[in-house]
Amino acid sequence: MGSSQTQPFCSDTAPFFRIREKDLLYDIDLLRDSLEKNWGNFCMGYSVKTNSLPWLLTYLKNEGFYAEVVSATEFDLVRRLGFAPNHVIYNGPIKDRAVFETVLFAGGYVNLDSTWELAWMEELSALYPERSFCVGLRVNCDIAALCPEEVLAEETGGRFGYCYENGVLKAAIDRLHALPNVAVGGLHLHSSTQSRTVNVYGALARIAVRIAQEYGLRLRYVDMGGGYFGGREDKPDYRDYFQEICKELSVFFDRKKTALIVEPGISLISRAATFETTVLDCKDIRGRKFVVTNGSRVNLNPLVTRHSYPFHVEYCSDPAERPTEPSQWVCGATCMEYDRLFEWKYAPALFPGDRIIYDTAGGYTMCLNPLFIHYFPAVIIERADGSLFTARDAWTNDEYLQKNHW
Ligand SMILES: Cc1ncc(COP(=O)(O)O)c(C=O)c1O
Repeated sequence: MGSSQTQPFCSDTAPFFRIREKDLLYDIDLLRDSLEKNWGNFCMGYSVKTNSLPWLLTYLKNEGFYAEVVSATEFDLVRRLGFAPNHVIYNGPIKDRAVFETVLFAGGYVNLDSTWELAWMEELSALYPERSFCVGLRVNCDIAALCPEEVLAEETGGRFGYCYENGVLKAAIDRLHALPNVAVGGLHLHSSTQSRTVNVYGALARIAVRIAQEYGLRLRYVDMGGGYFGGREDKPDYRDYFQEICKELSVFFDRKKTALIVEPGISLISRAATFETTVLDCKDIRGRKFVVTNGSRVNLNPLVTRHSYPFHVEYCSDPAERPTEPSQWVCGATCMEYDRLFEWKYAPALFPGDRIIYDTAGGYTMCLNPLFIHYFPAVIIERADGSLFTARDAWTNDEYLQKNHW
């Protein structure tokens, strides 16, 4: 695949994702430096579900990241890519027993979430009395009460973990404390919110302190999860979050004894990733201008949760010589009416061959793409030295037909 600048227009040019290594490294360094400066004793995990591109996972492994996984499939993937089982953080409400045991026995991090995992620990404790186990517990606390200003991911509050306010967390801790060879060694505080404020992370860190004090926990780690902003000039970044988190944690925890674990996803990859599309056609329908592109809303917004798509345009000819269009609707490549990305108002007329490049497009989209009409787009890596590398070829029917029988 050629570089975007030199790629000639032709109607079968396919859209693709691009990851710029320089920007990725910038955010990795920002994360590492913020953790180093504010806490020193830390573990960087990466949320595999956010973007499980094998190239990216391997890159992050080589940068020292652990893999944060929530399924047996993800665990198998990261093992195949060379992550050691003790470099895995196993989270989520539906765990696989075999993976659970593998990670636990290897000394990886296991954060319990469901009721039956407590019963698993009771069984394992009895089965292996000579071993000692250390597990974490995912905390569910009332964020709306702690931070009334925060815009929650779900209005009714989170559904993961053990509820602090109604005593379920305390009961889980008591159940584990009754086992002679099991220690509650960690608290897991991941809580997604839409507003992702620094404030909410301060409140979550205070909750970790409160729970550890209240229940007399000696924690090996506090896992603050992910959910941060990244790659946006108008929003906080790792420096702000970890200054606040560590300020609160240091009220009670000794940084030499308690490690800070993080599991960022989207904040690590947003700045580095773009989705690059080409204008194929411009149509006038009863006074409305429709610009048909080869990328789609399904590539950028598979969950239909986004309302804006930051973008920039690379024109195939001088835009100063084009008429200004009061309104152009940029549309996607599927045959669905709803596949309209944005209305561009009072802008140079778009022509076939122009390239519309969507910025901050790498989280949850590169791999969470429906196999709808078209399959996974290609992913190219722009290395720090400017050279290009294809990390994923666009999927074709060769991939789609695998494991089908007819
Ligand atoms: C447990 C856990 N950790 C980390 C993440 C990553 O979140 P984000 O991509 O918002 O950083 C998620 C995402 O939902 C998660 O559920």
